[in-house]
Amino acid sequence: MASLIMIFGATGDLAKRKLFPSLYRLFERGKLSERFAVIGVGRRTLSNDEFQKSVKESVSAALGEKQDIEQFVNHFYYQSHDVADSSSYAALRKLADEIDEHYQLDGNRIFYLAMAPEFFGPIALHLKSDGLTDVKGYKRLVIEKPFGHDLESAKELNKQIRTAFSEEEIYRIDHYLGKEMVRNIEVIRFANAIFEPLWNNRYISNIQVTSSESLGVEERGRYYESSGALRDMLQNHMLQMVALLAMEPPISLTTDEIRSEKVRVFRSLRTIKGEEVKNYFVRGQYDAGTINGNQVPKYRDEPMVDQESNTETFVAGKVMIDNFRWAGVPFYIRTGKRMETKSTKIVIQFKDIPMNLYYQPEKMLNPNLLVIHIQPEEGITLHLNAKHAGGHLDAQTVKLSFSNTGTNAMNTPEGYEKLLYDCMRGDATNFTHWDEVAYSWAFVDKISNVWANEKADFPNYASGTMGPEAADKLLEKDGFFWWPVADLDVDTCK
Ligand code: BG6
Repeated sequence: MASLIMIFGATGDLAKRKLFPSLYRLFERGKLSERFAVIGVGRRTLSNDEFQKSVKESVSAALGEKQDIEQFVNHFYYQSHDVADSSSYAALRKLADEIDEHYQLDGNRIFYLAMAPEFFGPIALHLKSDGLTDVKGYKRLVIEKPFGHDLESAKELNKQIRTAFSEEEIYRIDHYLGKEMVRNIEVIRFANAIFEPLWNNRYISNIQVTSSESLGVEERGRYYESSGALRDMLQNHMLQMVALLAMEPPISLTTDEIRSEKVRVFRSLRTIKGEEVKNYFVRGQYDAGTINGNQVPKYRDEPMVDQESNTETFVAGKVMIDNFRWAGVPFYIRTGKRMETKSTKIVIQFKDIPMNLYYQPEKMLNPNLLVIHIQPEEGITLHLNAKHAGGHLDAQTVKLSFSNTGTNAMNTPEGYEKLLYDCMRGDATNFTHWDEVAYSWAFVDKISNVWANEKADFPNYASGTMGPEAADKLLEKDGFFWWPVADLDVDTCK
């Protein structure tokens, strides 16, 4: 699997925090052959030595000191670069050809754009016009989100990168698809006889997907002001999880089969627009509050944020999938910053049993729940009812748990490591296809168009809470409630 990886934005945060450590982990596990090389591409002027030093520092900051680090960084080169200047691309091409020759890389190239999205299109166009994609091996383009700001801009961006790369050569990263338990969703669903027959509107009453963060917007105020939670998290990560939960069993595990099943889910999303938006979606913005005992400021007081900002830092929605399997089953999704805790969980709530023999006046039986813990802990918990030990025939809820944390959490590879490896192997299954991007933007645009034209009553939730009251009402009016994230912790369920 010889390959030359060119990382554009090699002095940036993503490269240092995620990409170099992930590449090292692949190297350490023997997943990178001797025939690999990395060219770091960046605006700054750096020597190879200086670049290698920064790679070493990133790896040791993330993973501790490593004995074989010299061997690893020997494969790293640096090229200073101006993204708008053809002569920069000519120099890069020359270096790439030399390295290719030196390591016998068979002309295989991965271009990883770890930089601001406005550069994606221009870089792709230059890569083609300046001959960098003119290779005898494979060429692949890896790009980070956001893929556009709405459907129109996404189409434009896609048009630009498609002039240089075919759809099969484009790897659009959604780092949630690299998470161990997100990948596990399909296995839990399709490798168990006990779930799949129940996985439909006859037995499931609702599904809840929560991805809460306790961090605020940090240093990303400028980006976030033009994005908000809807575009930042819902259009991609949240809808991707919904697609994996809702898709039909693929006829095989090939990239095309899985993607086409996911696309069918996106095509079945009920369009919510105009007046209906307020019945299905809730937005919020954090006020000051307390997180882990520390006072934190409100969103409008964060750096680079407008004092009157109308940007949502929280979104909750009821997503309906209008197909045979899911008609009538709400998928409630919520995500936000400065919430009580950092946690991503999926709760599948099954319908109540037809008649309750174990009714107690003050307490109905709890419904069965299947909880998929995505992070920080990884595992699944199944909530069942069983006889209270020693008691009469009264039932209590018992929890059967499988926890990755207890088994191999230390070895759980980070999402980026898996995604990089997939890309090198040419497996695009866990990357987002253009059709998924297009359908998800079409869905989200209808909501953002309404919100853009209505001033919200912000701030409307205190930092350290689970969002605005309206998010609770969204479920209450359907007779449901958000299962409290803390009660679902895998560690408390033995
Ligand atoms: C990113 C968003 O895609 O995902 C960030 O841009 C968010 O705003 C992050 O913080 C959350 O990712 P994770 O893996 O920490 O849940």
